[in-house]
Amino acid sequence: MTAYEIIKKKRDGFALDEAEIGFLIDGYVKRSIPDYQAAAFLMAVFFRGMTDTETYLLTKAMIGSGDVIDLSVFGNLSADKHSTGGVGDKTTLVAAPLAAAMGLKIAKMTGRGLGHTGGTVDKLESVPGYRITLSGKEFLRQAGEIGIAVIGASGELVPADKLLYALRDVTATVDSIPLIAASIMSKKLAAGAKNIVLDVKYGSGAFMKTAEDAELLAQKMVALGQRFGRNMAAVISNMDRPLGNTVGNALELQEAVDVLRGKVGGDIRELSLTLAAELYALAAGVPRDEAVQKAEQTLDSGAAYEKMRRWIAAQNGDADALPGLMALYAEPAVTVPCPVTGYIAHMDTEKIGTVSTLLGAGRLTKEDRIDLGAGIRIHKKTGDPVSAGEPLCTLYSKKADIAAAGDAYLSALSFSETAPAPLPLIHKIIR
Ligand code: URA
Repeated sequence: MTAYEIIKKKRDGFALDEAEIGFLIDGYVKRSIPDYQAAAFLMAVFFRGMTDTETYLLTKAMIGSGDVIDLSVFGNLSADKHSTGGVGDKTTLVAAPLAAAMGLKIAKMTGRGLGHTGGTVDKLESVPGYRITLSGKEFLRQAGEIGIAVIGASGELVPADKLLYALRDVTATVDSIPLIAASIMSKKLAAGAKNIVLDVKYGSGAFMKTAEDAELLAQKMVALGQRFGRNMAAVISNMDRPLGNTVGNALELQEAVDVLRGKVGGDIRELSLTLAAELYALAAGVPRDEAVQKAEQTLDSGAAYEKMRRWIAAQNGDADALPGLMALYAEPAVTVPCPVTGYIAHMDTEKIGTVSTLLGAGRLTKEDRIDLGAGIRIHKKTGDPVSAGEPLCTLYSKKADIAAAGDAYLSALSFSETAPAPLPLIHKIIR
């Protein structure tokens, strides 16, 4: 077997078998197959696609390239969620303690990542003392005893994805549904949970621009996870405006805490409740309505907030600091006034994400240092009535160029004289 023959077969539109896909992935990870052949293979997949069986075999080969986490000690209760990424998306920080308070076991490894804010780990590091590293034993013990442990990625989960993703990024082969599905699902499956809920976003701040594309990707990933014996659901949610009212690290953690304390409602509460309820419905095998009711009761009773406090304290974080977290940062702030009277017609969510990076809340390269107190507090969102001079948002940053960021924020908004049509939050739920 040679890489040349496999590339040619895919180029000509034929389906590859397990041995061929395994040969390519194994060879690429061991570096016996060079970048140019892997790149040619990826481009052939981009144009020819993959059957569901080929995507399954690719995912299997990618999982086999590294470590896998064994959560079988938790039986049917282990649970995990994944978001395809959105601006202001802090749902993990609400849904994970909420699911744990409903009796599920969350043993989650999560990344830092590049983008408009740090990853969940960076957000958690905004809490003084929070330890993102636990030994394997401590990790499982804490998830068993408290119901939740969240740590930074350790070990080598799916090294094939690291290599392939870097190559896709520079060869215009990222936006291929089988490649995305295999990339996301190989990492989720290697992370070990029995019940997995995906939050697949669409819209101006998302990877998938239309609800139809997001749905197609979600269906493929749900079917893929089921083929590996996992209980799967996907929520298709809108990203045509930021989620919640904050974008940043400490800012988002503080907002998540406010949702858990019952101080904040709106889209972030609704989506987090939906995700936690879907996880519970999968694990407990109960109807969705019953799961939603249980999630609401658990959140409103304060049990999910108490779970978060115990989790943070178990990882050495200062749980008493949670309600006043942003005050610890003493971050310089500037308010951006509204230039007109009318309504916010549209928010270019991706641009708002870029403003957040400009302020120092996110990384452009792996080496960049994040300013954990930086970010945006949004006062008005799409559909809200506004008056000239009224604050639209507050920008937080230690950088001098905060005024330029204000101009960039304004350029992300458009205004109208009449109220725009309401935006849906959840387009569909797929099981
Ligand atoms: N996120 C991933 O992890 N992989 C992709 O291919 C796209 C988004």
